[in-house]
Amino acid sequence: MNIPFCRPTIEEDEIKEVVDSLKSGWITTGPKVVRFEEEFKNWAGGKVSAVSVNSATAGLHISLKCLDLKPGDEVITTSITWPSTVNNIEICGATPVFADCDRDTLQILPSDIEKKITPRTRAVIPVHFAGAPVDLDEIKALCCENHLTLIEDAAHAVGTRYKGRLVGEDSEFCVFSFHPIKNITTGEGGMILCKSEENARRLRLLRFHGISRDAAKRYQRGSSPQYEVIEPGFKYNMLDIQAAIGLHQFKKLERFNERRRELARNYFELLKDVPEVMPLLPPKYPHTHAWHLFILRLDLNAVTVNRDQFITELQEEGIGIGLHFPAIHLQHYYREKYGFKKGMLPNAEWNSERLFSIPLYPLLTEKEQEKVVETIKKVIKRRKR
Ligand SMILES: Cc1ncc(COP(=O)(O)O)c(C=O)c1O
Repeated sequence: MNIPFCRPTIEEDEIKEVVDSLKSGWITTGPKVVRFEEEFKNWAGGKVSAVSVNSATAGLHISLKCLDLKPGDEVITTSITWPSTVNNIEICGATPVFADCDRDTLQILPSDIEKKITPRTRAVIPVHFAGAPVDLDEIKALCCENHLTLIEDAAHAVGTRYKGRLVGEDSEFCVFSFHPIKNITTGEGGMILCKSEENARRLRLLRFHGISRDAAKRYQRGSSPQYEVIEPGFKYNMLDIQAAIGLHQFKKLERFNERRRELARNYFELLKDVPEVMPLLPPKYPHTHAWHLFILRLDLNAVTVNRDQFITELQEEGIGIGLHFPAIHLQHYYREKYGFKKGMLPNAEWNSERLFSIPLYPLLTEKEQEKVVETIKKVIKRRKR
């Protein structure tokens, strides 16, 4: 690719910190993970616990495990998301129920969540999509009225604000991702913010085999190697090597997000006379966008090819392209198991056939942005109906 879809910003301080960990004799979960969690907690205002994990997928899994879901329980979520949001509901033995999203923002619609609530509903997992927040006040009110747990999938939303409040600052469960494509990275990794101390304790158990002490404490000098299995858990702990990267990435979050906002503004300007591709719109309620993704929807009436062919041609011209996301209710497993068909989520399906993401990351240059847009125009010209 001439212009890759993703390029993480790794600078000298991240590299030095990783080398420091490698030379220190302690590379798994240890003091740097503890520091990273503390800094994350303080950044979020200090009222929530921060529990690190080795991916947002793991974070979603153990958050759902805290609900002790039973067969027949339902969890409402969006279809335009990464598979793990939905797969984890299935893996925990519950039934995913889909609410449609807004056609222009791709944020889950509180009005459709309300319609999908039944006596079996236990939780709602909205996705703060592409770096913009969902309509949290509306969704929280629905959860409160109906005694549902709110698990926010904030994989795209490190630094996003909703009506002035940081996403995660007072959440029941709020799960962030540090995958290399995300606004900050730890290689792979994730963080759960959660306001109940009891849930935080359970999350800490579940992320490390369900035993009562994690590796750092067990092997510290002077502490005993004994442990107790409280309940079967998983191996989802973050390494100090990962936290070493995260500690420095975290310091740069505002710089990175500001650069993303600048790049997003440039794209809007460059694309304003290209009606064949329609950017996602920011939500109307007050918010600060973290611009994790810049998503376009192809006007299928304007060109002679479908979205898949269109993005193949962009890729052949050297532009890295992402798909965030094909509707999951129409993927093999969910179609087969639940008999889901086209027509059940009109806005999600409309977008699913048209959307694609173009490069957006702090290292992207203005010249590269111009090249991306020129290439889009070139392919449109070639394929104009
Ligand atoms: C909306 C959403 N949720 C969850 C995840 C999972 O994140 P991770 O790769 O850290 O497991 C992703 C990853 O892209 C995502 O986009």
